[in-house]
Amino acid sequence: MTQLSAAQSPASTERRTDSSKALYGGKGTRRITVRDITAAKERGEKWPMLTAYDAMTASVFDEAGIPVMLVGDSAGNCHLGYETTVPVTLDEMTMMASAVVRGTSRALIVGDLPFGSYQEGPVQALRSATRLVKEAGVGAVKLEGGERSLAQTELVVRSGIPVMSHLGLTPQSVNTMGYRVQGRGEEAAHQLLRDAKSAEAAGAFAVVLELVPAELAAEVTRSLNIPTVGIGAGVDCDAQVLVWTDMMGLTGGRMPRFVKQYADLRGVMGDAAKAFAEDVVGAAFPAPEHSVH
Ligand code: KIV
Repeated sequence: MTQLSAAQSPASTERRTDSSKALYGGKGTRRITVRDITAAKERGEKWPMLTAYDAMTASVFDEAGIPVMLVGDSAGNCHLGYETTVPVTLDEMTMMASAVVRGTSRALIVGDLPFGSYQEGPVQALRSATRLVKEAGVGAVKLEGGERSLAQTELVVRSGIPVMSHLGLTPQSVNTMGYRVQGRGEEAAHQLLRDAKSAEAAGAFAVVLELVPAELAAEVTRSLNIPTVGIGAGVDCDAQVLVWTDMMGLTGGRMPRFVKQYADLRGVMGDAAKAFAEDVVGAAFPAPEHSVH
């Protein structure tokens, strides 16, 4: 009888197959779909998500292997110069989302439905989601709210558009909610759990949990068959998302505690702009090698 070496045993073959399918670090080159996200939850795999608002930045993240990109309405504060996400329009989201889709070939692109584009009801939600899918080419949309957005989620999903739900701190409700930790206290924790279960029951493929206690996010993660995507929600979520300008150190000002800064782009870009200005003022640029004759 042929003995299988450890490297050929069925278990190790399975492990190899699993790691080759990994959302981050796997071998796949085709565009990721929500079915891959569901399979990752079944494998117990963690994955990263970043926001992106333009084609060039998105292409960098795609090349780095980021499997899911969110064209978030955080673009309002981080890209478009608004104070909050509230003024962002569906036209702006469509323009940014189509750029991000053009800049990527592998990542699943999720487009945010902005404030005012789905709150009126399911039909409005479907109309807005359809625009992001048809005009921008996103693979899924995101909307805020669990129980309060149940009918919207159901109709959009039933119509063939995957929905990512967003619970906890929902920035489109800043005028009623402020920017505070959500889900603290027994009643608020129960409501968050009900919201998460209602999003799953309505057909959402994933749930963002923003600024909720880590213990509660862990409980929600254990209670759902769909993945949780944490932002300020502790390490036990299935995935983690950060706003790209925050984690790269491009956003100015005070950062929330949950942001880890991986680079200092604001410093790097400011220094480069000053070096260019000095060169121009001192007639050091353009040098002969930058000139044509
Ligand atoms: O708009 C956004 O970037 C978001 C993330 C913070 C989850 O909703």
